[in-house]
Order: sequence, then structure tokens, then C-alpha cells
Amino acid sequence: MDKLLINGGSVLNGTIYASGAKNSALPILAASLLADSPLKVGNLPHLNDVTTMLELLGSMGVDVMLSDEMEVQVDTSSIQNLNARYELVKTMRASILVLGPLLAKFQKATVALPGGCAIGSRPVNLHIDAMRAMGAEVNIEDGNIKASVKGRLKGAKIIFEPVSVTGTENVIMAASLAEGKTIIENAAREPEVIDLANCLIEMGANIKGAGTDQIIIEGVERLEGASFRVMPDRVEIGTYLTAVAMTGGRVKIKSARPEYLSAVISKLELTGAEINFGEDWIEIYMGKSKPKAVSLTTGPYPSFPTDMQAQFVSLNAIAEGNSTVTETVFENRFMHVQEIARMGGNISLKGNTAIIEGINTLQGAPVMATDLRASASLVLAGLVAEGPTVIDRIYHIDRGYERIEEKLKMLGADIERIS
Ligand code: UD1
Repeated sequence: MDKLLINGGSVLNGTIYASGAKNSALPILAASLLADSPLKVGNLPHLNDVTTMLELLGSMGVDVMLSDEMEVQVDTSSIQNLNARYELVKTMRASILVLGPLLAKFQKATVALPGGCAIGSRPVNLHIDAMRAMGAEVNIEDGNIKASVKGRLKGAKIIFEPVSVTGTENVIMAASLAEGKTIIENAAREPEVIDLANCLIEMGANIKGAGTDQIIIEGVERLEGASFRVMPDRVEIGTYLTAVAMTGGRVKIKSARPEYLSAVISKLELTGAEINFGEDWIEIYMGKSKPKAVSLTTGPYPSFPTDMQAQFVSLNAIAEGNSTVTETVFENRFMHVQEIARMGGNISLKGNTAIIEGINTLQGAPVMATDLRASASLVLAGLVAEGPTVIDRIYHIDRGYERIEEKLKMLGADIERIS
């Protein structure tokens, strides 16, 4: 099994390009199920989760053609079965995103129930309730969500509590082909929801309000394929910026969309980093001084993203001063704390808050990746630790970071993939 070996202590300098956003690519690929003609998706990141979604579509008999430039063409006219099997769903919970499109287009879907998850229970009740509200009959049988509808789904008023990103996306997709108007209240405002809506609008959907907490969708009778480029990955960009705030140096990230990173940028500025940006680039300059500790609380967009929480725990572990990091989105998203503690970090947990005492330096150690963003925090810790850090189970990192060791190497890090 692959591991990452990092010798800490290098300052990061240079320029890299942001990859396409995983959390935008996944719903957009699922949306291809709604179209009567092929959908072309560009700027797809080369990630295990994207491969899993393509495999999932392929396993249903959908024709998926991938070009060298990671542009994919998805043609659903050859679809044979409407079944998302457990083998694939268990490796990626976002597989639930095919539920809405399958029901809306084919009036039937079987999606394996995702099991437990490293970051909390993560139920899918909101997805199921929403499909029922739109007229579907949904039963749980043999570990599967079995859903069907007579005729088209019906527009409905859906109120999310709590706000759910993929839940909102499933409803937008289902409602696009439903009969009548759907109103989503307390909708997720994440930029990836806007990206999905923009793709669906290109396909012929009638969607208003994406990016606000009320989204209104007038169902249409058919959607066609289109050509769409997914937005840059704001979590990937945020992760590299945080790395530089920890190591020092100057790094420019091109193909970025800084307007979606406001909460992260504000916190990085409080660490002492200087941030400059234009429409499609962002640059961080961190002098030789250590970062100052910053406290934060995660929340749905536009609050500080839970997907950047672990990286900031690493930053605070070596920062000047004490801080608290409070997680409000997921119930158990602190698996990285024990691993950072193995590297000498002084962190204690009280409920959903990590209390962090900044120390001078971490010590390299063998550590284990437990989930996607937790693994990123261990890479960041390894970059500033004294001596070698070996990160095991990096298949978690490969789910969400494209060529992480290559990008970091280009910036001057001493990092390699070993087996
Ligand atoms: C998405 C992102 C993930 C991110 C998360 C929060 C994708 C593919 N993944 O995940 O990277 O960390 O948003 O920004 O876009 N909940 C329920 N019932 C449900 C659904 C959710 O109780 O049916 C709860 C969850 O347990 C969690 C909260 O709602 O506490 C928010 O989760 P949600 O926004 O749904 O996360 P995902 O869409 O799975």
C-alpha cells in the first residue's frame, strides 16, 4: 500500500495550478443521467472519487468516454440498470447523488445505503424525505434505498434542516425534470451548488437562486447535453495556502476563484500571512516568522468550511499562542488530533472543540490517514516537522488531492510516494 514520506523543514516557493473541484465534478457527472444527449465535462480532477463516479455510471451501462485532457463525455442512452451497488457506494458516499437524477429521468432507482463513516454517522434521511415529498415511494430493503415514482416527480416545497450540500444538489437535479415548481428553503449556498446549477441551466433547466438559501426550480420536460468546465477546487487551494502559512515562503496558485475562499483568507491573514489575488489567481506570502494561532468555528458556506478544519488544527499546533477549533458540521471529525499528538502536538478535545497550545515544532513520526481532510492535515504537519514523517493509508488523500506530492515537490517540499 502506498505511503507518503516527507522530510520536513523546506520553505515553499513557486507557482502551481489549482485542479478542478471534486465536490463540483461529482454532482455534475451525476447530472449527466438527466440528459437526452451526451454531456461533456471538462477540468475534471484526476481523483479516485471521480474514477468511482465514472465507474458507477459505467456499471449502469452508461457510455463514458474519457479524453487525455480529463474531459469526459457521458452518454446515458445505453443505460441498462438503475442500480448503484454497495461495492461502489461504500467507497464514496457521494454516490447518493445518482438517486435524484435516476428517479427524475427513469422513475426508478436502487442505491445502496452508505454505511458508517470516519467523520460521524452521516445519515441520508434528508435525501430520502425530499424524494418522498416529490411523490416517490421509497423503501429500505436489504441495505438498499429502493425508490420509484409513477409518472414524473412532482415539484414540492423542501425545507432542509440541517442544511445539506449533496441533499440540496439531489433535489435541484430531481426538480429540474419534475412536473411543476420546487422551492428549496434553507438550501446549501456552497459554490459547488452554484456550479451544478449553472451546468443544469446550460442543459436547459430553469433554476433561480442558486447561491442563496432559497432555490426555485421550474421543472422542464427534457434536458439536453452541454459542454461544461468544473470550477477550481477551493479546498485544494485552501490546503496549499495553509501549508505556506506553516512553512513560510511565497506561492502563487493559478486557475483559482478567490471569491469563494473569503472565510479561509480572513483566517490566514490573522496568522500573519499576506494574501493578494486577482480574478483567477491567489498568492500568499509568509515571512520567516511563525504563524499566529487563530481560533475558528466551522459552519455551512459562507462560514469557515469543515473541509479546511483539520488543516487549521495542524497550523495551530505549531503556531504562536493558543487557539480553539470548533466543529459544528460533523459530529466526529477530529481523528487527525490523535495523529498530530503522536507528532508532539499539544491538543486536547472537549466535546466538539479542539483546544490547541501552539508549540515550537512537531517531530516526524509514522502516522495514519483516517479520512480525506485529516490526511491533508498530516501532510501539512509533516512539512514542518523535524525529521521524517511517513503517512500510511494515503488512498484517502488520493480521493481528493490531485498529484499532491508532485505539486508540493514543485514548490520545494521534500516528499515522495513510497510503497
Ligand atoms: C458535502 C461535501 C463534503 C463536506 C460537506 C459539508 C460533497 C461530495 N461533499 O458532504 O466534502 O464536508 O458537504 O460541507 O459535496 N445530514 C443529515 N441527513 C442527511 C444529510 C446530511 O442529518 O440526509 C447532516 C450530516 O450528518 C451533517 C450535515 O447534515 O451533519 C451536513 O452534511 P451535508 O452537507 O449533507 O454533507 P455532504 O453533502 O455529505
